[in-house]
Amino acid sequence: MSLLEVRNLNAGYGRIQVLWDVSIDVEPNQVVALVGANGAGKTTLLRALTGMIRIRSGSIHFQGHEMAGSAIESIVDLGIAHVPEGRRLFMGLTVRENLLLGGWRKNNRDLTRVIELFPALGERLNQTASTMSGGEQQMCAIGRGLMSMPTLLLIDELSLGLAPKTVDEIVARLPQIAASGTAVLLVEQDIDIALSVSERAYVVETGRITRSGPSRELLTDRSIQEAYLGLSPG
Ligand SMILES: Nc1ncnc2c1ncn2[C@@H]1O[C@H](COP(=O)(O)OP(=O)(O)O)[C@@H](O)[C@H]1O
Ligand SMILES: [Mg+2]
Repeated sequence: MSLLEVRNLNAGYGRIQVLWDVSIDVEPNQVVALVGANGAGKTTLLRALTGMIRIRSGSIHFQGHEMAGSAIESIVDLGIAHVPEGRRLFMGLTVRENLLLGGWRKNNRDLTRVIELFPALGERLNQTASTMSGGEQQMCAIGRGLMSMPTLLLIDELSLGLAPKTVDEIVARLPQIAASGTAVLLVEQDIDIALSVSERAYVVETGRITRSGPSRELLTDRSIQEAYLGLSPG
């Protein structure tokens, strides 16, 4: 049984349908990428998974539970954490306070795992989030998600607005996060990064999954290189 099993999901906003028959699987301890251009429907899928929007049809099973219609709080309790696009930290609070808020529902105050992953945060626990670089803020947002001890971490546009070197540093931690019991669904416009770090990937185009498979194969696929990686047809 997959950790997350989405089948024929249809969802959108009001009368506008955005996702069409989307099916994806995430296995335990895996990094899976969902890649696609701006506006393809990636964030909408995460919103459907976390109960922020109602789905029209299809199913979402997490550890065998049907999730459709569940409240956001119960989704956290079941073991899903969401690192939203733009991080959404409490900028006036310290790093420690932001992290502890992530652990609040699970009564987790142990910062060890997060600090081991991101030592830079350990040195900045008493700084307000607003004083940190974009990369450190992203580390803090991921750390806050991990504080709820999830079995699945959803990360929306990890690389957005960050320098390539910073992105590499953060992305390098994802396999370690997955291996220690938190599978990662990485949503990215930057397909190169997402395919490089993940084991499997899905390509979403205008709300439909058009390709899927081992990331290594997709990364070397000619049509994907031409469409997304700036390689001219030849
Ligand atoms: N709150 C909303 N209301 C109506 N349409 C929306 C809303 N949010 C996103 N959309 C539309 O849904 C489509 C997919 O958007 P989104 O899921 O944000 O894509 P992505 O995350 O892949 O960039 C876009 O056409 C976008 O305009
Ligand atoms: Mg998005």
